[in-house]
Amino acid sequence: MFTWHTAGESHGKGVLTLICGLPAGLEIEVDFINRELSRRQRGFGSGERMELERDQIEILSGIRWGKTIGSPIAILVKNRDYSNWERIMNPEGSPPPDYAPITVPRPGHADLAGMVKYRLQDIRPVIERASARETVGRCVAGALAKILLKELEVKVGGFVESIGPISLEETSLSLEERLFSAENSPLRIPSDRKKEQEIISMVERVREGGDTLGGTFVVGAQGVVPGLGTYVEAEKRLDARLASALMSIPAIKGVEIGEAFRSATLPGSKAHDRIFFDPGKKPLPFFRKTFFAGGLEGGVTVGGLLWVRCAMKPIPSLRRGLPTVDILTKEPVTARYERSDVCAVPRAVVVGEAMLALVLAQAYLEKLGGDSISEVKERFAGYLNYLEKFGEKMDGENKID
Ligand SMILES: Cc1cc2nc3c(=O)[nH]c(=O)nc-3n(C[C@H](O)[C@H](O)[C@H](O)COP(=O)(O)O)c2cc1C
Repeated sequence: MFTWHTAGESHGKGVLTLICGLPAGLEIEVDFINRELSRRQRGFGSGERMELERDQIEILSGIRWGKTIGSPIAILVKNRDYSNWERIMNPEGSPPPDYAPITVPRPGHADLAGMVKYRLQDIRPVIERASARETVGRCVAGALAKILLKELEVKVGGFVESIGPISLEETSLSLEERLFSAENSPLRIPSDRKKEQEIISMVERVREGGDTLGGTFVVGAQGVVPGLGTYVEAEKRLDARLASALMSIPAIKGVEIGEAFRSATLPGSKAHDRIFFDPGKKPLPFFRKTFFAGGLEGGVTVGGLLWVRCAMKPIPSLRRGLPTVDILTKEPVTARYERSDVCAVPRAVVVGEAMLALVLAQAYLEKLGGDSISEVKERFAGYLNYLEKFGEKMDGENKID
C-alpha cells in the first residue's frame, strides 16, 4: 500500500518525509524534487521566511543510484535556520533560564485549540507543528507521486482563481489550458495580466495595512484513466478521498469537486457531462467533452480530466494583530506576530497539486498493483488494452449468456 507521513517542526532540525509502497525501479531526479520545493516557496505575498528556506532534499533511504528499490523512502529537508533556534527547539536538555513561554493565542490559528488539547502551557509546540512549514514534506511526497504518475501518462497542474475579492474574469482558455499555463505568473494565475497587476497592488496595500488575504484555486490532472476509486465502500470513493486530502492542507476550508456549487443551481439537463462515443477515442471510446463533475461519477474517475477547487481562508497571523486574551494574565491583548505570509494562495496551489498527486498515485497503485515500475507498466498496458476494446463484446464480469 502506498502511504506517506511527515515529521518535523517548523524551527526544528528539519522535516522528514517517509514514503512506503512506491514500486522499485522508478527513476528519481533529485533536481525535480528540489524544483517542486522551490515552486512551493515562490509566489507573490510570501513572507521573509521564504528567503531563508531555499529547501533542498537529502535522501536517507529507499533510493540507490537514482532509482527506488522498493523499500521505505526517507527524505530529509534540513532547516537552514536551525542554529538560530537550537536553544528553543533542542530535542535534548531543558528550557534556557531566560525562556518565556508564549501565552497569547492568535485567533484563526491552532494556538488555543492545541494548548487545550495537549495540556500545554506554551504555544510554541503548537506553532511549530501546525505551521505550514510541514507542507514541504507533502511536496516531497507529492513530487514522488508525480514521478510515478508521469510514467502512467498523467500530468498534474493548478492555478489561482481568486485572491480576496478579485476573481479572474471569464477566459477563453480551456480548463486544461489554465491548469498548465500559470507557472510563470507570480500569482499563479493563468492568463489575465491586467488582473494580475490589480491583484499585486491589492496585496501590497493589504501588506502595508498589516492585514492578510485568502482566495481560491484549482488543481487537476490530465490523462487520467477511467475506473480509479470505487463507490462500493464509503471511504474508498475517490471524491471523498480527494476532499479529505485537500482539506487537510492548513487553511483550506472548502473543497469543491468540479462545479459542485454551480451545478446545485442548475437543472439536471444542464449540469451533467454528456457521454459520447467515438471508436477511435483513447483510452476509452466512450468519453466526455465537459468535466462539470470534476471527472468523477460514483467516486470513480470517468477518464480524462480530474479537478477540484479549494477555498483558502486569510492567513491568521496579522502584522497588526487581532484582539485576543493572554492565557496567563487573562487580560485582553493584541495577538503577537511572527514572520508570516500576507497571502499564501499561490503557494497553496503547489501543496494542493501534491495532495492530488498523492491520492491519484495511490488510486493507480490500488488499481494496477505491481512491485516494480516495469510490472506496473505491464499492467497499465493491459488495462489500456481492455479500455480500448470496452464495449466491443459485452463479455465482462457479469456476462449474460
Ligand atoms: C502554503 C501555506 C502557507 C501558510 N503560511 C502561513 C503563514 O505564513 N502564517 C500563518 O499564520 N498561517 C499560514 N498558513 C495557514 C496556517 O498554517 C493555518 O491557518 C493554521 O495551521 C491553522 O489551521 P487551519 O487554518 O486549517 O484551521 C499557511 C498555509 C499554507 C497552506
